[in-house]
Amino acid sequence: MPVLEGSVGVEDLVLLEPLEEKSLLENLQLRYENKEIYTYIGSVIISVNPYQQLPIYGPEFIAKYQDYTFYELKPHIYALANMAYQSLRDQDRDQCILITGESGSGKTEASKLVMSYVAAVCGKGEQVNSVKEQLLQSNPVLEAFGNAKTIRNNNSSRFGKYMDIEFDFKGSPLGGVITNYLLEKSRVVKQLQGERNFHIFYQLLAGADAQLLKALKLEQDISCYTYLNPEVSRIGGIDDASNFRTVQNAMAVIGFSEEEIRQVLEVTALVLKLGNVEMTDEFQANGIPASGIRDGRGIREIGEMVGLNSEELERALCSRTMETAKEKVVTVLNVTQAQYARDALAKNIYSRLFNWIVHRINESIKVGTGEKKVVMGVLDIYGFEILEDNSFEQFVINYCNEKLQQVFIELTLKEEQEEYKREGIPWTKVDYFDNGIICNLIEHNQRGILAMLDEECLRPGVVSDSTFLAKLNQLFSTHRHYESKVTQNAQRQYDHTMGLSCFRICHYAGKVTYNVTGFIDKNNDLLFRDLSQVMWKARHPLLRSLFPEGNPKEASLKRPLTAGAQFKSSVAILMKNLYSKNPNYIRCIKPNENQQRGQFSSDLVAVQTRYLGLLENVRVRRAGYAYRQGYKPFLERYRLLSQSTWPHWNGGDREGVEQVLGELSMSSGELAYGKTKLFIRSPKTLFYLEEQRHLRLQQLATLIQKLYRGWRCRTHYQLMRKSQILISAWFRGNKQKKHYGKMKASALLIQAFVRGWKARKNYRKYFRSGAALTLANFIYKSIAQKFLLGLRNNLPSTDVLDNRWPSAPYRCFNTANRKLQQIFHQWRCKKFRDQLSPKQVQTMREKLCASELFRGKKASYPQSVPIPFRGDYVGLQGNPKLQKLKGREEGPVLMAETVKKVNRGNGKTSARILLLTKGHVIITDTKKFQAQIVIGLDSVAEVSVSSLQDGLFSLHLNEITSVGSKGDILLISDHVVELLTKMYQAVLDATQRQLSVTVTEKFSVRFKDKSVAVKVIQGPVGGGKNKLICKKKGNHLEVTVQ
Ligand SMILES: Nc1ncnc2c1ncn2[C@@H]1O[C@H](COP(=O)(O)OP(=O)(O)OP(=O)(O)O)[C@@H](O)[C@H]1O
Ligand SMILES: [Mg+2]
Repeated sequence: MPVLEGSVGVEDLVLLEPLEEKSLLENLQLRYENKEIYTYIGSVIISVNPYQQLPIYGPEFIAKYQDYTFYELKPHIYALANMAYQSLRDQDRDQCILITGESGSGKTEASKLVMSYVAAVCGKGEQVNSVKEQLLQSNPVLEAFGNAKTIRNNNSSRFGKYMDIEFDFKGSPLGGVITNYLLEKSRVVKQLQGERNFHIFYQLLAGADAQLLKALKLEQDISCYTYLNPEVSRIGGIDDASNFRTVQNAMAVIGFSEEEIRQVLEVTALVLKLGNVEMTDEFQANGIPASGIRDGRGIREIGEMVGLNSEELERALCSRTMETAKEKVVTVLNVTQAQYARDALAKNIYSRLFNWIVHRINESIKVGTGEKKVVMGVLDIYGFEILEDNSFEQFVINYCNEKLQQVFIELTLKEEQEEYKREGIPWTKVDYFDNGIICNLIEHNQRGILAMLDEECLRPGVVSDSTFLAKLNQLFSTHRHYESKVTQNAQRQYDHTMGLSCFRICHYAGKVTYNVTGFIDKNNDLLFRDLSQVMWKARHPLLRSLFPEGNPKEASLKRPLTAGAQFKSSVAILMKNLYSKNPNYIRCIKPNENQQRGQFSSDLVAVQTRYLGLLENVRVRRAGYAYRQGYKPFLERYRLLSQSTWPHWNGGDREGVEQVLGELSMSSGELAYGKTKLFIRSPKTLFYLEEQRHLRLQQLATLIQKLYRGWRCRTHYQLMRKSQILISAWFRGNKQKKHYGKMKASALLIQAFVRGWKARKNYRKYFRSGAALTLANFIYKSIAQKFLLGLRNNLPSTDVLDNRWPSAPYRCFNTANRKLQQIFHQWRCKKFRDQLSPKQVQTMREKLCASELFRGKKASYPQSVPIPFRGDYVGLQGNPKLQKLKGREEGPVLMAETVKKVNRGNGKTSARILLLTKGHVIITDTKKFQAQIVIGLDSVAEVSVSSLQDGLFSLHLNEITSVGSKGDILLISDHVVELLTKMYQAVLDATQRQLSVTVTEKFSVRFKDKSVAVKVIQGPVGGGKNKLICKKKGNHLEVTVQ
């Protein structure tokens, strides 16, 4: 066996040497053992199930295969997916991926790999991604409801699936359509040993939380349900609970509403619960056996869950209404019949639910009708099955596989060889097995097994599975691919494996013995009308919609198509669909029966390679040509490669093709010119052509770009130039206009000057000297007059406190305005003064004097300002004794108040009354009012007073006085400011001398002949109200103001 460098065995069986079954198997085995599960036969891929996760998938590999052509990398399913996708995108050719093989050979996995590859490489964007997600997420949902564990495959597809993915012209997915084929619904009620019911039941029980289980009235324990096989509740490596969550998420992504998901689960639960409805024997009054429900609870729960009258359901399960044109007859069912009815109902509900789910997914992923699209179909159908006991389902499944094999034979073996002949290409025929005869045996319209089955189902009279078998035996007694006990007996064959109720068909993939029991029933697929009517009455919207025929208004007496006929017609549509597309084959091979990794059973694989016709495939492929195309489309695609055919070619298509290929100097063995088509032997040549085309396209694209860029730059330049000319024209015009305007203005100025000069010269004689000054003066005067008159009208009030004053209209009047304001103010002050009475004048004077003496010096001054000077604080008028003290001195008593006198000896104070007259200060006691001290104002030399709040003051006397012997007097007055002001004025009036008033904290007084230092200090604030505490120590007197 030649081994290419770096490859394990041969990667393409076309290169196998010698070409025989043994070497083919050895090659597959060698590759399988080296984990090379993919091998080519030309463009067909053989995939051997590895039963283990190989590190050859994922984004990295997708990226790799995206950039290379088919043969450049190791064989891989991605390479095939890439080829199909590129052909779809670049050549607008609809594609189909046909995945065939036995059950468990890896078809579903392969279809998912193809889909994930296409999803990864096709367009991007939010919309596209959501479509991709929906398409990909349809897989887990359909697998949950349509796949089950069988003895051959833990995830066996129990329905056929064909999915059309639709793309726009850019190769971005738009959506798709899924077609499903006959679900194996018998599994709902019964499973073989070691097998399970559909995954969803186990997923629901394992994954639903307590709340959901309660809502669905379900128990988690699988053994509670008759329809579930408790022996195999779990499958190694599969987590039902997490898969349940995946399914729920997937449904949400596809677009199922929460309500829809809930309803789907309710119907699923309903099926489970239906299985638990147990029938029991009952007898009618006339002794005829009848049936009833053993425990009403289950059926009541069903009724509650889906809004059904449980009694009606019970009636429908246990009796049957026959309707003729004239009357209705109700017959009771015995237990077996009632159980049959129950199971039929469960199967029907489930299979209708499955169809509804597919329909609902299609609703979400469907594409608008208007869009032009190219299609990639992916077919993943249940694999060929040979069981111990094969029934109607296996018959249908195997028929479908037979048809697929026929597509393969037709397109790769038969059609190809016939084409060579037609096209006049020299060809030696390769023999192969054509399974047309088997397909015919099954599907022939009049004489096929399915036609016979239909005939039996429709025939009046006693019909049973055995009458059907008898008919087959009679019809196919001599058929090469048909056997039964009867035909064997006729040929005197002894075969203990053949049962009496069996027939055998020699399928392309092996002999399968079918047991006819149940064929008629399953083909009829009838559901008693009573049951569909009850279901239709349910308030549950989904359940109700599954049984439209239950609506009495729509009930028709017409018989629906049989299951076989329906399947046959849908297979026919599928075949038509597949024939219209470019096929890509993935042929899956199961390496062993035990689902074990690394095990390669040569015998098992030999059987599969034989019936898959792989050897014949290699032979045809080797001798034939990999690629063919009509001259016209070929020329259309590649004429750009030759100077003589591009851009125009006027000759014939074939000549054109010869011209193109001649210029490319291809080797003659690689090409064959047929009558209407060109044949290319090896894909490499085609890839070479494609590469050349690609390069040429790049050149052309560059040329177009170059021309376009040149054109764009040229037009841009021309536009710029035009704009530039326009701008400069405007600019120049504008400049000239401005220049002209300037010249004109200058000319006018000069003219004006000249004219002015001339006029002045002319009129000079009329001018008097100084006229301008006069005029100016006149103008100034008139402005000033206007200003003053305006001011007069706007004068503020005569209130001395009114600060308002109008502002000057011109700046030149600012100073005058200020002066006028001052004058006005002084005038109104004078007016104010003039109206004052002499007493007010006196008071004002005193206040003025006080301000000069104490403002800013004594703390008690501000408080004294608003208080009028009263002078008399002791009530002189009512006290003649005090008045008398004045003696003969003229004038009034200026001030009379009670003061405190500081004792010279100890510093203590005692109250006295002080009278101030024009010439004297008289101090009396407060009781007898006898003058104690009388001081002439001329002997008061100075007054000292502190700056604080206190009323302490000292009268410093001249050294030579009548009281001089006692010394200075320290007094405390409550009105010290008033008293001293009045004393100051009295001294001034009497002696024309300004009495010195010293504001100080430290001063000295003379007591007798001693000098005492007085110090006034501020005590803690808030102690009392201006209370004075005098302390005398020796020659120090400390006065504290509190
Ligand atoms: N490429 C692969 N890589 C890893 N495991 C695989 C691969 N292909 C198949 N398998 C394993 O084989 C099992 C069966 O494969 P799959 O379900 O695709 O078979 P099938 O041909 O669709 O069978 P059926 O006809 O019963 O539906 C998968 O569950 C998976 O474990
Ligand atoms: Mg499958």
